Amino acid sequence: MSEEKGYGLLKGKKGIIFGALDDRSIAWRIALACHREGGQFVLSNAPIALRLGALNALSEKTGAPVFPCDVSSEEDVEKLMNQTKEELGGVDFILHAIGMSPNIRKKKEYKGLNYKWFQQTLDISAISLHKILHYAENTGLLNDGASVIALSYIGAQRVFSKYSDMNDAKALLESIARNYGSRLADRGIRVNTISQAPTRTSAGTGIKGFDGMYTFAEKIAPLGNPTADECADYCVTLFSDLTRKVTMQNLYHDGGFVSSGVSEEMVIGLQKLYGDEDFEL
Ligand SMILES: NC(=O)c1ccc[n+]([C@@H]2O[C@H](COP(=O)([O-])OP(=O)(O)OC[C@H]3O[C@@H](n4cnc5c(N)ncnc54)[C@H](O)[C@@H]3O)[C@@H](O)[C@H]2O)c1
Repeated sequence: MSEEKGYGLLKGKKGIIFGALDDRSIAWRIALACHREGGQFVLSNAPIALRLGALNALSEKTGAPVFPCDVSSEEDVEKLMNQTKEELGGVDFILHAIGMSPNIRKKKEYKGLNYKWFQQTLDISAISLHKILHYAENTGLLNDGASVIALSYIGAQRVFSKYSDMNDAKALLESIARNYGSRLADRGIRVNTISQAPTRTSAGTGIKGFDGMYTFAEKIAPLGNPTADECADYCVTLFSDLTRKVTMQNLYHDGGFVSSGVSEEMVIGLQKLYGDEDFEL
């Protein structure tokens, strides 16, 4: 959908969007879609990411203030919730689009993980969702009927070798979404994860072998890989009142990849690659 037209699905709703780094970020595209749908929000990212300066352009475009928060610091998370409360009063939606693995960045293989970095991977990419929900609730920021979404990946269920310790982080992230979701349900609050297909972003392309993962998914998914903008449109529906009874779910947004075995195109390609006569369909 274009940036201009919308359905007003988030009119009157307020939120926090974590994780927009540059215009390829999934969170960046989600912020534009939320703005298009009439939502009001604050943008947050780690101080180091804010120093890059790109977020100012998104802030100007959407009228959203930018507040720094390193989610590995409890103090930062609590401070952000209080700042947001002063700015917006309460929030109806939260986007967690945060992922980082020092092991992947520094090319440590799964069998030789640095355990301190492994803990950082889990803390930043998964436990941060727990912290955000804890302080959003305890500061009185989280409104009844709110919707919380964290972005996940199918590595939580299946092994993708190059995704290394992020596979484990996503499994933990999805578990926290389920467990917190059950505890917030009495206030009508929904907590879900969207399992997005490989997407060309800074975090995505930072993974060695990303192009292979992208192409593999693209060739197998009947609808092909969804873009960040398509993820943003899906996210808007989950923040809206149209999905009030959807909670504690991991929702695949992957063009049908999760339900597919192998595509016709892949079989033919493999047959050509290996010259296997018995492969005839
Ligand atoms: N790109 C993909 O292929 C893909 C697929 C499925 C899920 N996801 C998930 O989507 C989310 C967004 O990633 P993206 O692909 O848009 O990449 P991205 O690099 O644009 O976003 C990752 C964000 O995490 C932020 N971050 C890292 N450490 C932080 C910290 N300590 N405190 C606060 N923020 C911190 C970064 O600054 C960045 O903005 C991540 O959870 C990622 O795992 C990505």
